[in-house]
Amino acid sequence: MKKIIRKKKSNEVRIGLLGLGTVGSELANLIGINATRIDKEYGIRLNLSAAFVRDVSRKRNVNIHIPILTTNPDQITKNPDIDVVCECIGGNGFEETRQFILDSLHHKKDIILSSKKALALYAPEFIEAGNSNQVQIRYDATVGGGIPISKVFEASFRGDTVTSISGILNATSNYIYSKMENDQMDFSQALKQAQQKGYAENNPSDDVDGFDALYKICILTMLGMKRIPSPQSAIAQTFRNVELCDMQYASELGYSIKPLALADRVNGHVEYHVGPTLISNRHILANTFENYNSIMVKGNICGQLGFYGQGAGDKPTASAMFDDLLNLILSKQHNLFQGQEISSYSQIQLKEKNSKKYWRLSLLNEPGALANVTSVFAHNDVNIEKILQKNKHKEYMELVLITGIAKKHKELFSELSKNPSLKIENVLHVTE
Ligand SMILES: NC(=O)c1ccc[n+]([C@@H]2O[C@H](COP(=O)([O-])OP(=O)(O)OC[C@H]3O[C@@H](n4cnc5c(N)ncnc54)[C@H](OP(=O)(O)O)[C@@H]3O)[C@@H](O)[C@H]2O)c1
Repeated sequence: MKKIIRKKKSNEVRIGLLGLGTVGSELANLIGINATRIDKEYGIRLNLSAAFVRDVSRKRNVNIHIPILTTNPDQITKNPDIDVVCECIGGNGFEETRQFILDSLHHKKDIILSSKKALALYAPEFIEAGNSNQVQIRYDATVGGGIPISKVFEASFRGDTVTSISGILNATSNYIYSKMENDQMDFSQALKQAQQKGYAENNPSDDVDGFDALYKICILTMLGMKRIPSPQSAIAQTFRNVELCDMQYASELGYSIKPLALADRVNGHVEYHVGPTLISNRHILANTFENYNSIMVKGNICGQLGFYGQGAGDKPTASAMFDDLLNLILSKQHNLFQGQEISSYSQIQLKEKNSKKYWRLSLLNEPGALANVTSVFAHNDVNIEKILQKNKHKEYMELVLITGIAKKHKELFSELSKNPSLKIENVLHVTE
């Protein structure tokens, strides 16, 4: 193993980066910009010693000298000269990331994570490895970008029980929906613009098909409700399933369509939903636009709390990681390590939440057609709360309904589907 630094000074912390892309480069720059001040204020010498990348010849936007740039991850994860590892790979390299995280922990390195996918899928494994090696894992950057949500859960709700967490957690999809709602772009145009602005990846599936939001709501459930859900047992609805007319009809009915993720504690399980959702315009979440995130947390005692901020981007994410880095170093200086609480959390089952619904139906324009449809809802014991009729003079009219909760949604859906004069164009969740 290549020796990184001469002799370690007593107040020196040697940092290794896994990944030096969008987030890693910004974190490297933050370390460079703040090193002198941190030394003065806290007597800590931050030493960015090495970074692991795939391609060392790639030009990087980094203003700090990094002594070792390597394609060998062991130079970080297994190197005795590294004290703290900052993982900034995630995404596509997620399988390798899991192994890098475990290697770092087993080699007694504290670690700051950015990968929500790795954390959501493997938290118990990571925490166990961290505890048995007496090292810390911090992960505030995995959810909500710059919103310090994991610090909130760490320091709050001590005499309270968190009963519900909901939020707009995927900045890419929220940006797309904002462009659809406010600038009348269709989904694919808005996605293209998000890609041009760097808010969406070339392969946007994790973001726009709901996986990213699902991982994040699982992490929030773990932090807030102190139970470990399994994302593998849950299904996210794709955010692609919204057309411009849905945005317009929702607005006429007093709603905004948002990429929502939520988890409600109900007896011994958690009810969850991840997908496009009509949210009443009166709700704070309905006023979260562009690349911003909002997280609402409800406690039995404190009631509803809200957190808002940029949910993605190099700067907010790197800022959250830098705070994690400093807090970790300070807590170690004060010997505050007591193991992560999470190791004692039990697993919890996720069940899909039943909710009110938005229906967009295309209906043959003939006498009695509307009555036929409404009677199906009536005999399934489902209340129609709001109704819009569009294109009333064409061969097919469009019928838009907001309905109450159906105890047997699948049966209702299949009965409506059997009607030859009717086509179900879209069904979305609704929350007030
Ligand atoms: N970007 C954001 O706004 C944001 C927000 C919140 C969280 N995050 C999280 O931050 C992490 C990093 O995101 P990013 O946007 O910085 O990604 P990125 O720009 O693609 O950078 C990834 C870095 O990891 C290196 N790498 C090493 N092995 C890799 C592999 N097998 N596959 C992919 N990359 C590999 C890459 O090396 P090369 O440079 O040589 O290619 C690159 O330096 C992810 O976990 C992401 O979920 C990002």
